[in-house]
Amino acid sequence: APVRTYEIATIPGDGIGVDVTVEARRVLDAAAAEHGFALRWTEFDYSCERYSDTGAMMPEDGVSTLSGFDSILLGAVGFPGVPDHVSLWGLLIPLRRAFSQYVNLRPVRLLPGTTSVLANRTADELEMVIVRENSEGEYSTLGGRHNQGQPGEFVLQESVFTRVGVERIIRYAFELARTRSKRVCSATKSNGIIHTMPFWDEVFELVAAEYPDVAAEQCHIDALAARVVQQPERLDVIVASNLFGDILSDLAAAVTGGLGMAPSGNINPERTHPSMFEAVHGSAPDIAGKGIANPVAQILAGAMMLEHLGETEAARAVDAAVEKVLAEGRVATPDLGGEATTEQLGTAIAEAV
Ligand code: NAI
Ligand code: MG
Repeated sequence: APVRTYEIATIPGDGIGVDVTVEARRVLDAAAAEHGFALRWTEFDYSCERYSDTGAMMPEDGVSTLSGFDSILLGAVGFPGVPDHVSLWGLLIPLRRAFSQYVNLRPVRLLPGTTSVLANRTADELEMVIVRENSEGEYSTLGGRHNQGQPGEFVLQESVFTRVGVERIIRYAFELARTRSKRVCSATKSNGIIHTMPFWDEVFELVAAEYPDVAAEQCHIDALAARVVQQPERLDVIVASNLFGDILSDLAAAVTGGLGMAPSGNINPERTHPSMFEAVHGSAPDIAGKGIANPVAQILAGAMMLEHLGETEAARAVDAAVEKVLAEGRVATPDLGGEATTEQLGTAIAEAV
């Protein structure tokens, strides 16, 4: 019989996105070979470099081309000279929205070998997942700049919170909590933001009432940020709006293992469109082209992709290989205090798989 084959689109993007994607493919191909399936990769050049050449991050038929794939593995986009809102609104946000990837899932756990401020904690004290709303909220195009350059200049930036959008992300968090520690914490700020956040809280309470078996709590985003650092053991599933979730996951990544270790999935739960997996970090122009980026975040994003495709054993094998290599500590990139290259760490993890 022919082996199970998944069609994977890969968009390495810019900067270290390119380096880490090569290593993720190496590790995922090793896992596929070990576990009896195949990944067929198709690479796309959608990037800031493409924008500089053609004036667009991706071609007009980009979304329809990608829609035929089982999954998308994305490196990172962004490069000096191209404004960040171009790379974000020209590629990432259109894809997340066109493919209804309304869940941005960001698992956070303490990995061995980290130089984190919380490195002395144990792994079971620091294991949480941030469920970030990925399709609306504060990231909106509504608003405008008025009276530019005049004394009365002002800008308006509006947020969009729909009942459908808020309810489905909160429900996703409760469903996820049922498979974990049965605790959900909602990030809010209803004391300062008086329209959208009280609405968010109201929907949270309505959904929470349907899950009496799950402990539900609300926490203002500022206090929650402190708690991630000081009492991470009190947190498991965190559900947050687009902006709050974005900030919180960089913070959580920084206190656990650094940006080089934090994966992320843009999930379409209904599976009517491809989901997209990427590292939390960006293209890191400061270390681009040096071959020293930590590939772990992208490799763990690849493991999330395998899990989403139903290849759970292979996904576990990749996670285990990462942990083994990091715990040994012989092959470590500079952010982990070592001298290894991106390729050496990727190869060591692929061999461990
Ligand atoms: P960044 O995540 O690229 O870098 C922040 C810092 O972390 C840098 O000092 C960098 O060297 C370090 N770092 C990040 N990933 C690392 C890794 N794998 N190994 C070792 N060190 C690592 O964020 P920054 O500097 O704010 O943004 C740079 C560019 O990336 C911008 O153009 C931004 O728009 C873009 N970006 C793209 C994202 C995406 O494609 N999803 C997400 C975040 C930023
Ligand atoms: Mg971010």
